[in-house]
Amino acid sequence: MNTAAIILAAGEGKRMKSKYPKVLHKICGKPMIHYVINCVRETGVSKLFVVVGHKSEDVMENIDESVQFVNQEQQLGTGHAVMQAREALRDFDGSVLILCGDTPLITSDTIETIIKAQKERDLACVVLTTEIDDPTGYGRVIRDTNGNIERIVEEKDAVPAEKEITEINSGIYVFDSRLLFESLDKLSCNNVQGEYYLTDVIEILRVSGHTVGAVKAADPKELMGVNNKKELAEANRIMRSKILDKMMLEGVTIIDPDKTYLDKDVVIGKDTIIYPGCFIEEGSIIGEDCIIGPNTKITNSKIGNRVVVEYSVVRESTIEDGAVVGPFANIRAGCIIGKGVKIGDFVEVKNSKIGHGAKLPHLSYIGDAEIGNKVNLGAGVIIVNYDGFKKHLTKIGDNSFIGCNSNLVSPIEIGNDAYIAAGSTITSDVPEKALSIARSKQVNKLDWVTRFRQKKQSGGGE
Ligand code: UD1
Ligand code: CA
Repeated sequence: MNTAAIILAAGEGKRMKSKYPKVLHKICGKPMIHYVINCVRETGVSKLFVVVGHKSEDVMENIDESVQFVNQEQQLGTGHAVMQAREALRDFDGSVLILCGDTPLITSDTIETIIKAQKERDLACVVLTTEIDDPTGYGRVIRDTNGNIERIVEEKDAVPAEKEITEINSGIYVFDSRLLFESLDKLSCNNVQGEYYLTDVIEILRVSGHTVGAVKAADPKELMGVNNKKELAEANRIMRSKILDKMMLEGVTIIDPDKTYLDKDVVIGKDTIIYPGCFIEEGSIIGEDCIIGPNTKITNSKIGNRVVVEYSVVRESTIEDGAVVGPFANIRAGCIIGKGVKIGDFVEVKNSKIGHGAKLPHLSYIGDAEIGNKVNLGAGVIIVNYDGFKKHLTKIGDNSFIGCNSNLVSPIEIGNDAYIAAGSTITSDVPEKALSIARSKQVNKLDWVTRFRQKKQSGGGE
């Protein structure tokens, strides 16, 4: 039998105290609703709907094409949210899987278990529940004396004895589609929050003589709902630890997993060592035998094999095999750092290509430049790429040597094998194999100091 899925994501998420919709808050670099959508996809459901409402444009923009959206104009509760999918499912006959967009730690294995349970026993509904030590904030599962599920009571509506119950509703269910929509018609909003609760459908089904089953998940962490920033941090911690465990089992050396932050789809090769204080973010791919960190942030970048990056920031760039970056370098967007390049301390590079074997060891700014192979930049070389209106390009040929504290005023081109004398401010092109000196000539005034002192002592002055 067919299964359709509905993910509820229309709520504002007031408890987040945020201007952004709740389901877009990130867990290890991805909006939390992505995790729910991916899990559902893995189970191979035939249709997938996401109910959007609060800031729906933002939510839809952050979800890819392959889902269908259902609009819930006013957020009148989870039951009301599901009702909005009635039209879309009018001709559908099968099971309906319902999940919340704020339950990002759920796994497809668990979802498959409840789909199977509902189908095998042809139940009106199966609720995914779990036992937790602190059930505060969740709906409680009320069972009858035979252990059958009777109803779900929300925290705000629960009497003290019900609040003692530690079996909670995950907000994930599989329903028989026809019985679901029939029961939704009978919902009222007669409760503390004045909302149409999806959870009330359980009691409606039971009173109409149907059986509701429950599957208790073994790992309560999977079912965690993220309603505030504290829970967001906790969900991040759990997801992070899963990602790190997988990495370590695949051969990555993590010195201290409690102080290492890897985003969801990051790839790291075998025998790479990650020191503490590293943030390896969304879209990054790191090769084998690298040494990364301590205290390094790499975002959406491709790092080759045997690369060293210490105490540095790398953003939207490529660093090829054997390069060494840092300590204290800032590689900004759009850089290609060639094989075996050395970038040392307090060097900032932006939108530039650095040829293989080049050395930029200290205190430089390189912006919008193409630097040839084996170029050597002395300490303090600055590319003057901005004239206050426009950014200009610089090109330095292979094997050139740029002396310390030189300014290269762009646009400018330095040929291959050229030499720039230290302290030069270069404003026009330098041909290949030339030496360029652009500073005032040195003058030594012999014995000037003696004469100066004598003049001062004898009371002379200007
Ligand atoms: C809900 C359940 C609770 C369960 C908990 C599990 C109800 C009434 N309560 O409570 O039993 O223990 O989840 O995490 O269902 N939403 C809409 N439209 C609305 C209201 C909510 O789409 O009008 C969406 C929200 O965006 C969210 C999800 O439904 O993704 C759950 O809503 P939320 O307000 O977080 O419900 P909880 O109070 O956590
Ligand atoms: Ca919730």
